[in-house]
Amino acid sequence: MFDDISLLPPDPILGLLGRFRADPRDGKIDLGVGVYQDEEGRTPVMRAVQAAESMLLASQTTKTYQGIAGDPEYNERMLAMLLGEGHVALRDSRIRGVQTPGGCGALRIGAEVIRRARPDARVWVSTPTWANHIPLIGGSGLQILEYPYYDPATRGVDFDAMMSALEKVPAGDVVLLHGCCHNPTGADLTLEQWRELTALTLRVGFTPYIDTAYQGLADGVEEDVAGMRHMMSAVPECVLAASCSKNFGIYRERAGGVYFLARDALRAEAVLSNAMSAARQIYSMPPAHGASIVSLILSDAALRADWLTELGDVRSRIAGMRELLASSLEGNAAGTDFSFVTRQKGMFSFLGITPAQVTRLREEFGVYMLDSTRINVAGITPRNIAPLAAALHAVLADTTA
Ligand SMILES: Cc1ncc(COP(=O)(O)O)c(C=O)c1O
Repeated sequence: MFDDISLLPPDPILGLLGRFRADPRDGKIDLGVGVYQDEEGRTPVMRAVQAAESMLLASQTTKTYQGIAGDPEYNERMLAMLLGEGHVALRDSRIRGVQTPGGCGALRIGAEVIRRARPDARVWVSTPTWANHIPLIGGSGLQILEYPYYDPATRGVDFDAMMSALEKVPAGDVVLLHGCCHNPTGADLTLEQWRELTALTLRVGFTPYIDTAYQGLADGVEEDVAGMRHMMSAVPECVLAASCSKNFGIYRERAGGVYFLARDALRAEAVLSNAMSAARQIYSMPPAHGASIVSLILSDAALRADWLTELGDVRSRIAGMRELLASSLEGNAAGTDFSFVTRQKGMFSFLGITPAQVTRLREEFGVYMLDSTRINVAGITPRNIAPLAAALHAVLADTTA
């Protein structure tokens, strides 16, 4: 059976993490994997999560199976967080979905349902996009195509190029959008651009597939999703994949959800039945613990307030490190203006240095980032900024790299 099976290379992001862990140097710096770290370089359990876990442990009476769609209260509270109470999609009962194992589970179930509904639909993803989007969505059998998004010259969104490419997408195809904190570039659409994109979506007739994994890490829990809420109040159909890994800091608990906006309540119910059938074929039902934590935090006023406060601290720490990185790189020998880092959103930025500089940073200075030059800004701390800046100055001064 396994005689001829070949060894596959490690996942690029997790493989880098393995190399970082194996590096014996004391001062090594991990800017690779997309996990929040505090000033001490730790990924803490949030206070509200700890409190919710204690409450759950004390009150839990059974560990029997949950339904395929997960906890109905969790799904309800997630939708209220994602769309805002009273959103037209909720008012009209046009949106239904399932709790999933993380955002990855959400993305895959979303793709499975799209394939059932329209097997020949192609999914258009931004250039670049999160590397795992391709296997997660493409693994369902859907064809993936790309539309232009990031402009390395301006370090922002090339909105004109994006709009002209999307203008030509056939009706019935699917366009994957990042709800906020674009991974890997940190370059987001403005609210005005979301409005223009919504108008284009309505004109052209493609279906938006929105992935939101960082709600609350850019400007605020409400602010970050204003664009996608607008789009979802206007379009007839949409798929929304959400992750609680980052904004609740519960990565390993695998809590997410995928929600389908349909033309009416009856169709939404039919789509839900297909999402449940797809989940049943793959993993049967999602793990309960992470979703129970989220559901409790969202429903308990005190826990929710504390979660929002701590998430605000996370946000300011990231913004502070963006400022610090940009100012520490002023006057670099390459003459690069790094102030763009302060304009980008969420955990990631593209530094835009050369592949040789990325390699030198890793090998000579123990600074780890993805080959694409994506850095996790949350990996920067007041303690490592000086050696990090020194390493970057050194490689930027090297004109041969
Ligand atoms: C853009 C994006 N979507 C979805 C996810 C999925 O997250 P998870 O499956 O860990 O909840 C991630 C995680 O890094 C992400 O960056």
